[in-house]
Amino acid sequence: MIYRDKKTQAFLLSGKNYSYAMYVNRLGMLQNLHYGAKIEKADLDYLAAHIADPQVPQADDINRDMAADVLPSEYGYYARGDYREPTAIVERSDGAVMSQFTYVSHKVQKGAPAVPGLPHMRSADETLSIVLRDAFSDTEITLHYTVCDDSDVLVRNAEIANVGKQPIVLQKAFSFCVDLPNAGYDLLRLTGNWAAERSVDVAPLGKGITRIQSLRGISSAQFNPFVALLKKACTEEQGECYGFQLVYSGSFALSVEADTHQSVRVQGGVADTAFSWTLDSGERFVAPQAALCYSAQGLGGLSRAYADCIRERIVHPKWAYHKRPIVVNNWEATYFDFTAEKLFPIIDEAAKLGIDTFVLDDGWFGKRDSDRSGLGDWTINEKKLNGGLHTVIDRCKQRGLRFGLWFEPEMVNEDSDLFRKHPDYALAKTGVEPCRSRFQLLLDFTRADVVDYIFASVSKVIKEHDIAYVKWDMNRYLTECYSAKLPADRQGEFMHRYILGVYDLAERLTSAFPDVFFEGCASGGARFDAGAAYYFPQTWTSDNTDAYDRTKIQWGTSLCYPLSTMSCHVSACPNHQTGRTLPLATRGAIASLGATGYELDLSKLTDAEKAECKRQVEAYGRIADLMLTGDLYRLRNPFTDNEFCVMVVSKDKSTAYVVGERFRTTPRGPAIRLPLTGLDAAKTYYIEELDATASGKALRSVGATMPDLHDGESFAWHIREVKH
Ligand code: DGJ
Repeated sequence: MIYRDKKTQAFLLSGKNYSYAMYVNRLGMLQNLHYGAKIEKADLDYLAAHIADPQVPQADDINRDMAADVLPSEYGYYARGDYREPTAIVERSDGAVMSQFTYVSHKVQKGAPAVPGLPHMRSADETLSIVLRDAFSDTEITLHYTVCDDSDVLVRNAEIANVGKQPIVLQKAFSFCVDLPNAGYDLLRLTGNWAAERSVDVAPLGKGITRIQSLRGISSAQFNPFVALLKKACTEEQGECYGFQLVYSGSFALSVEADTHQSVRVQGGVADTAFSWTLDSGERFVAPQAALCYSAQGLGGLSRAYADCIRERIVHPKWAYHKRPIVVNNWEATYFDFTAEKLFPIIDEAAKLGIDTFVLDDGWFGKRDSDRSGLGDWTINEKKLNGGLHTVIDRCKQRGLRFGLWFEPEMVNEDSDLFRKHPDYALAKTGVEPCRSRFQLLLDFTRADVVDYIFASVSKVIKEHDIAYVKWDMNRYLTECYSAKLPADRQGEFMHRYILGVYDLAERLTSAFPDVFFEGCASGGARFDAGAAYYFPQTWTSDNTDAYDRTKIQWGTSLCYPLSTMSCHVSACPNHQTGRTLPLATRGAIASLGATGYELDLSKLTDAEKAECKRQVEAYGRIADLMLTGDLYRLRNPFTDNEFCVMVVSKDKSTAYVVGERFRTTPRGPAIRLPLTGLDAAKTYYIEELDATASGKALRSVGATMPDLHDGESFAWHIREVKH
């Protein structure tokens, strides 16, 4: 709901459980009045008179502009009294860098705005667009606020336009800014590395600026484009918190500034390091969207609101609730060392186990026998696949499986026909020795002709084969961020233009092949973000499939992404990344918490192991729908507890699935009680594996006792409502 109050001229935006209020103060600044729990329209009077006013100087106060420093702004500016980090920095053609953004007009429109070239919220109830004007340059900034009545996610972004005759240069152009009263927050971020993506890190927010960012060209394994502010009493299911995530996959920055005036500024967008963007007369820069979320039901409430929003409004509607394929992927089974004949036993066994899709990973193309060559040559490696891909596809079809194929569209090896023909397609400033990573270079995706070339060569393979699934990988971070085709004064646009090129290719490929299911991947889960979810209904969560580490990786990822977007596979033991051995049942249980699959040579399993995998595939069939549509409740935290436990509950609360794992045996340790918080207190439930019936009230408050498990063992419970 979007409401404009006649008397105070204040705006009130409300979703399911939150309100967001702003007004135009006497400086002309768009000032925040409230972001948090729901308030009433009638409260705007009170807010304008008693919350905002004392800080706003009278119009005749000659020193009034300096008050900007203590006022909660919706879009911070530079060199005009607001000394916090600015949200945008505008340079005029005479070199002056100073701004003051003041209100000009606004309009309310139905639905969600289109954001050309960028992933965005596809549907919404209403959007408020407020136009601000810079007092010092011919710059107009439109702030969009998109609201859904049934959601706690508010989507914001900014469009910056040059409405004058002279060019302007944006030295920074963040998507949003919100100033909140400092309630003594903890700051949560998702940090990590390859094979340890999205570890949860929570620390008290100190004075000054805390910034997370990626300058790697993609959202990265190191910092996910998400932060949350937690009020002190915030737990999994209680207390207040705010989430801020970018719908963006490129280099980003999110900054949280606790100033000396008891206020906290949260803002973010495209990374501002080495960024600049020239706007000629009439041009506009569209900043990526940010999804803000308020929860009074702790982090669990925040996660569920984000999960609903992403699957309902960001993932393509065709795929959002589409049954996920159960995949077997040959990467850890064979790496580069395969022939069609070597793949057949995996395919044959997969069919027997009930798996429905075989994905052929890296190594099927060009001269690709190792990671030193072949990237960029999207033609079949006939040496390995005598008879072409068709041999493998036919085998899949004979066994009733669909076929998926791996690509790494953004890359080239120097030892490739593509590089020999078009060395200029690669990123490498003439005269500078490029940094190599995994022996490969990046293609210059800021160039339309390069994107066209890759679109044509990837499309050709998809068109000529019966392909149901594409895994789009990306295995190195950007260096030599320079395009020979961009003018010298536009090199600061490189990073954002790179990801626009990636989005362009993703848009074109997914539109050209609407029936193909696209999975995202980047050295594991280094590009796992809401922007990627727009094109890829699921993303490979991590190369680390160890069922202990995965509890942490999937826990962290679940804070702001739905389970249906997480690819989770069972792999061989000892685990290839950690060397750890865990029971197959545990690997299956942890991999069932998302889009499940297998990542091993199924033909090498013992009969007992094959029977266990068959059981897992069948069991997944029972909960597949819950993984697509259910609500997640996190019960035992692997970062702090000796156990991991989560439950997924259907929207109507009639069925639930609980999975837990104990990490270390604790002899004669205390019985762990699990309050099954996701159940409905008014219903009665039956826990199949315990043969127990109890009221939702009891299961929520008394809880259920976790089985006594040894090192690395797990359990799974199926719960259903008992109707009287
Ligand atoms: C990194 C991915 O995360 C793996 O799953 C695999 O596809 C390799 N790349 C192949 O090179």
